[in-house]
Amino acid sequence: MQTTSRTFTIIKPNAVAAGATGNILDRLISNGFRIRALKMDFLDRNRAARFYAVHRGKPFFEPLLRFMTSGAIVVAVLEREGEDAVEALRTLVGATDPALAAPGTIRHEFGESVTRNAIHASDSPENARKEWSHFFSDDQIVEVDYQPSI
Ligand code: CDP
Ligand code: MG
Repeated sequence: MQTTSRTFTIIKPNAVAAGATGNILDRLISNGFRIRALKMDFLDRNRAARFYAVHRGKPFFEPLLRFMTSGAIVVAVLEREGEDAVEALRTLVGATDPALAAPGTIRHEFGESVTRNAIHASDSPENARKEWSHFFSDDQIVEVDYQPSI
């Protein structure tokens, strides 16, 4: 069987509010990602602080929590062929600071500042699994593939 790998993304409040959700999902799909789980959600302060616990104590922690609780988000579990879903998504997303993100990346196009940088991408397969479990139970990940012959 073909190897596949998974990662996790959040379309952040500035991108959702800008109406960029469809555009960003289209870019993910057209770059080889399949959506295995998808929903709109809203983080309160406690959930945002749990999600970003690794950054607690950093100077940007409080502004980040304010931003991430400022509007709706869209969260997704993504899958692609091969073992590099995490790296491939990080490449497509671009550098943390949109001003430094390469042309063609999602943050270059939709990011407004280092905090309001439009999209989250997990940094390892282990963290991806941990992160999507804040939003999805295992049985909410859809593993069925289309079978045109049925
Ligand atoms: O998201 P990424 O993995 O590229 O960066 P991070 O270092 O894990 O930081 C998580 C998030 O915190 C970023 O995506 C930014 O939204 C925010 N951040 C910030 O507001 N100011 C910084 N100096 C660094 C990160
Ligand atoms: Mg990170």
